[in-house]
Parts: sequence; structure tokens; C-alpha cells
Amino acid sequence: MTKEEKYAALLPQVKALCEGESDRIAKMANVSALLHQEFGFWWTGFYRVTEYLSNKVTESSDHPVTQPPSYSATLTLGPFQGPIACVHIAYGRGVCGTAWKERRTVVVPDVEEFPGHIACSSESRSEIVVPVFQGEEIIAVLDIDSRELATFDDTDRRWLEEVVKYIP
Ligand code: SME
Repeated sequence: MTKEEKYAALLPQVKALCEGESDRIAKMANVSALLHQEFGFWWTGFYRVTEYLSNKVTESSDHPVTQPPSYSATLTLGPFQGPIACVHIAYGRGVCGTAWKERRTVVVPDVEEFPGHIACSSESRSEIVVPVFQGEEIIAVLDIDSRELATFDDTDRRWLEEVVKYIP
């Protein structure tokens, strides 16, 4: 089966798993399991855009100054299949943070050539990160890693962008 045929067969399964389900975490869990199982990727999962309360303390000339608390967004590890991974990724950092910031799918044929790539696993050689949009807002990213170079291309981008439409 070609990659195109595999994705074409997989999309109705994604639809069946997600339609009528309102819990995004559950959908992310099943979609990552399905992709991982069908394609045998190295790591397949989601990072969710979450907010945390930031209460920074900065040093003034002679005494600490507590800034008013504010909410900042970060990527936080969500449902995945594969080896353990880093938990938080900042806006604009690594491939995931770049896809979030630039609001587009990022395909990386060789992770060593990507400045700022975050190596959760030294086995990972190529990667694709697809933003999950709810309207105009990015609520998560789908991150897939491969142990081979140049695993992902425009076919993956096109199909995975369809797959993630079922998450929100
Ligand atoms: N490589 C990713 C980090 C996540 S892990 O690969 C699972 C990145 O650079 O954003």
C-alpha cells in the first residue's frame, strides 16, 4: 500500500473515532494510537496549548520586585505513543514551538539541520509538526518523529492537516 492509500484508508477511521465525541484528550489519544500503529512511527503525539500563571520576581537595585501575575501560554505534553518526551515547549522553540508561532505545518527532513530542534530522543532523525486549529486559534500541535531521514513530505502534510480537523 502506498502512503497515499494508507492515509485514505485511515481518514474514515479517524472520523469514526472522533465524530460525536467532545473530549479532545480522548480524541488525541485515539488518533495518536491509530497513526502510530498504522505507520510505525517512532513518536506520535500531541502538545496542547495551555496557560500557566506566571508570577515573576525580578531584582531591582537592592530588593526583589514581584511582578503582577499574568497568564502565559505554553505547549504541554498531551496524549502520545512512543518514548517519554519533554513536557513543556515554549512559543517559538523547537519544531513544535515554530509550527505554533508560524501557524503552519513544519516538515523537517533532517532534525540536525533545524536550528533549535529539541531532541527529546536522540533516535529521532526527521519530523513533522501540524498545528490543530479551532477556527483561528491554535489549540494543539500534532508532532510525529521518525528514526529515518526525510520520512515526511507534502503528502503527509496534506493528509495530516485533514486528520487534525477532527480534534477540536
Ligand atoms: N522535537 C520536538 C520536541 C518534541 S519531541 O520530539 C517529542 C521539537 O523540536 O519541537
